[in-house]
Amino acid sequence: MSSLALCTILRHSASTLTIRGLPSFIASTRLLNQTPQLSVPRLKAFGSTMASLPETMKAVQIDQTGGVDVLQYRDVAVPSELKEGEVLIKNEYIGINYIDTYFRGGVYSPPSFPYTLGREGAGTIAALGPGTPSDLKLNGRVAYFSVGAYADYVRVSADKVMPLPDTITTKVAAASPLQALTALTLIREAHPVKAGEWILVTAAAGGVGLWLCQLLKAVGARTIATASTAEKRELAKQNGAEVVLEYHEDNRDRFVDKVLEVTGGKGVAAVFDSVGQATFDSSLKVLTRKGTMVSFGNASGPVTNFALGRLADKNLKLLRPSVSSYITSREELLPYANELWNFIEKDGLSVKIHEVYPLKDVKRATEDIESRKTSGKLLLKP
Ligand SMILES: NC(=O)c1ccc[n+]([C@@H]2O[C@H](COP(=O)([O-])OP(=O)(O)OC[C@H]3O[C@@H](n4cnc5c(N)ncnc54)[C@H](OP(=O)(O)O)[C@@H]3O)[C@@H](O)[C@H]2O)c1
Repeated sequence: MSSLALCTILRHSASTLTIRGLPSFIASTRLLNQTPQLSVPRLKAFGSTMASLPETMKAVQIDQTGGVDVLQYRDVAVPSELKEGEVLIKNEYIGINYIDTYFRGGVYSPPSFPYTLGREGAGTIAALGPGTPSDLKLNGRVAYFSVGAYADYVRVSADKVMPLPDTITTKVAAASPLQALTALTLIREAHPVKAGEWILVTAAAGGVGLWLCQLLKAVGARTIATASTAEKRELAKQNGAEVVLEYHEDNRDRFVDKVLEVTGGKGVAAVFDSVGQATFDSSLKVLTRKGTMVSFGNASGPVTNFALGRLADKNLKLLRPSVSSYITSREELLPYANELWNFIEKDGLSVKIHEVYPLKDVKRATEDIESRKTSGKLLLKP
């Protein structure tokens, strides 16, 4: 019998038995051993749940940072205990995000090794730990953002789990937690966007970029989108961008002139820039007075050595936000999730899936997102 299955059993079994507040399966085992009235038939009634949890699963881990060759597709143990407020999710789809490449490559440091990559996914709840909210149900469909997602099963705090309405497919849901909620927090909190404002979005045909183009259109903003190829720029346009531009990497002043021309010489109210180092200077130049520079990614490398005095000419605001610092609790997550599902249902927002890769093909998927050849969302299928 899997220990985790037993934990689930206890949570859903006799009212005389409560495991709420118990820290782990170990405590549950002790409780079971000391509770003779827990009958065998009762355990058997949950046999199917137990049978559905294997001892091992596939996961993608790294033992060190480096190139794609450090990615290891291997057998690991299925998590065998759930802490207070945690659920075990069986992934149906796992989202790939650019941040996964930062942890693999060493731009960000994994806290320890072996480290299971991945930050989001969607699937069904395979087991509930003690003290989980009542809207999270066994076998219920959910999406989440949390570490360790590149695996068949993942243990997630309920704070990071969103139940899915029937209208949202698991595939769309897996593409949403990090990229769509990032886009939503950016337009609501980093720079609360007003209808009619000009906004610049870089990497506009990427995962976050396409959500931004659609959301900005939905709230009535006017988007100038940049992307590296004509095909990507066309995609940004189809997703709501009003004007699309090349980066003009060989002559950034040309790019600045184009943005000023489009905005009647005033510049944009905000830039949502995920490219980082390569576009930071030109993004500052195209902002209007009192505009907001939102630098939220490092695809070309991090921005370093910035002199604060550079903001003074136009009294610019500068933010380096992270979605996980905007959404830190269930109280913060659920309103955002509901707003996102509403945008998808009522405004027809959609997600372009670049490709669904088998989990074992993670190296190819990683090479693809790093190659700049992808647009929209890359998913892994366990
Ligand atoms: N702060 C947060 O909370 C947060 C959350 C989610 C994502 N992000 C950031 O948002 C960005 C986009 O993430 P994503 O997952 O949606 O990825 P993505 O946009 O689908 O892929 C990255 C894109 O960046 C562009 N890019 C520009 N220079 C590049 C370079 N030197 N190397 C590779 N790509 C380059 C490419 O588009 P072009 O070819 O069109 O330039 C590429 O397609 C990332 O920087 C990520 O870290 C931040």
